[in-house]
Amino acid sequence: MDYCNMAKEIPASPIRDMMVRAAAMEDVISFTVGEPDFTPTESIIEAAKTALDHRDIRYAPGAGLTELREVYAQYLSEQVGISYEAENVVVTAGGMSSLFLSLLCTVNPGDEVLMSAPYFTNYSQMVRMCYGVPVPIEVYEEDEFILTPEAVKKAITPRTKVLMLNSPCNPTGGVISMDSLKEIAKIAVEYDLFVLSDEVYRHILFDGEKYASIVMQPGMRERTLIIDSCSKTFAMTGFRIGFGAGPKEWISLMTKLTEGVYSSAPTVGQRAAIEAYKSGLPYCVEMVKQYEKRRNYLYERLNQMKGISCIKPKGAFYIFVNISGTGLDAVEFSNRLLDEAHVAVVPGGNFGSKGGDRYVRMVYATSMENIKEGCDRMEKFCSSL
Ligand SMILES: Cc1ncc(COP(=O)(O)O)c(C=O)c1O
Repeated sequence: MDYCNMAKEIPASPIRDMMVRAAAMEDVISFTVGEPDFTPTESIIEAAKTALDHRDIRYAPGAGLTELREVYAQYLSEQVGISYEAENVVVTAGGMSSLFLSLLCTVNPGDEVLMSAPYFTNYSQMVRMCYGVPVPIEVYEEDEFILTPEAVKKAITPRTKVLMLNSPCNPTGGVISMDSLKEIAKIAVEYDLFVLSDEVYRHILFDGEKYASIVMQPGMRERTLIIDSCSKTFAMTGFRIGFGAGPKEWISLMTKLTEGVYSSAPTVGQRAAIEAYKSGLPYCVEMVKQYEKRRNYLYERLNQMKGISCIKPKGAFYIFVNISGTGLDAVEFSNRLLDEAHVAVVPGGNFGSKGGDRYVRMVYATSMENIKEGCDRMEKFCSSL
């Protein structure tokens, strides 16, 4: 008996490793987990309770509850200014399943999938699970970690099939401007690429930055799948509700595959999600105000530390911190910071970029109190080096 090479060879998530190490220690300030520290609104919780009271606990249809698909289609239409119908939407078990199913529907073995690097680690893992080839496109701090149209074009080969975009980005907080999206869209049309636009952080934008999606560009609607989720927008990570929104054929293929993967997204979570899109968006605005305050504080403090610098992220709740001035590489820096100062961060090399060893990723989806204490400890640690 021998388990398959793909499953054996794919590396486990390095972020979880760091979380586990941190959890085993006492008095650790953790900047590792990309999960809101807020709780969903009472009305969202009530909607879940009502679903349970009504014993609304059976399988949902593979594509999701019709009411949720309709509510989401209307919300998305307003967001992007293009009309989406329920048939353009599949409800998935978190954004993660939406990413995976959409790749399963587009990638043949050996097909290449472009992604800017550093990237969300699961991207390369999922592409490999589809027997595709992840193709990282290096992005640089000088360019605010943003994918340039020139770099996309350069990375294209006859095997290129899909382009993955993630704006605002995990792990850098980078936001792609509409001007760049416009140029990238032209390339996608020219080379007939599928585009996955991962927009799970779409509402977490700072400094008045406006939401922009590649789907708004000409020729993109028919080749773009928007990946979305209730996880970050409404702090509903454990409800496991995500969405794929795009061309009907793509959606019906994803729905077909859903059956053999998880049947349907959780019914109680879907009831809660309906309420979230009806009443939860103002709360999201409040959360974003808090994230922005934390980002400002963290950015100021980090740039005052010896050997540390960072650019100001425009979205999401991540900051990619340049630690090269400390003389340590990211792994040594992170290990020593955890052991000596009890502060957990993730080494940047884990996000698939060549230059990642000079960076660590920090998440500020944690209280201001934790951020202050974490900064005090980190500052002391850096001064001691
Ligand atoms: C870039 C990105 N996409 C998708 C997801 C998926 O989140 P979920 O499955 O909780 O919706 C995450 C979660 O951290 C993420 O960072």
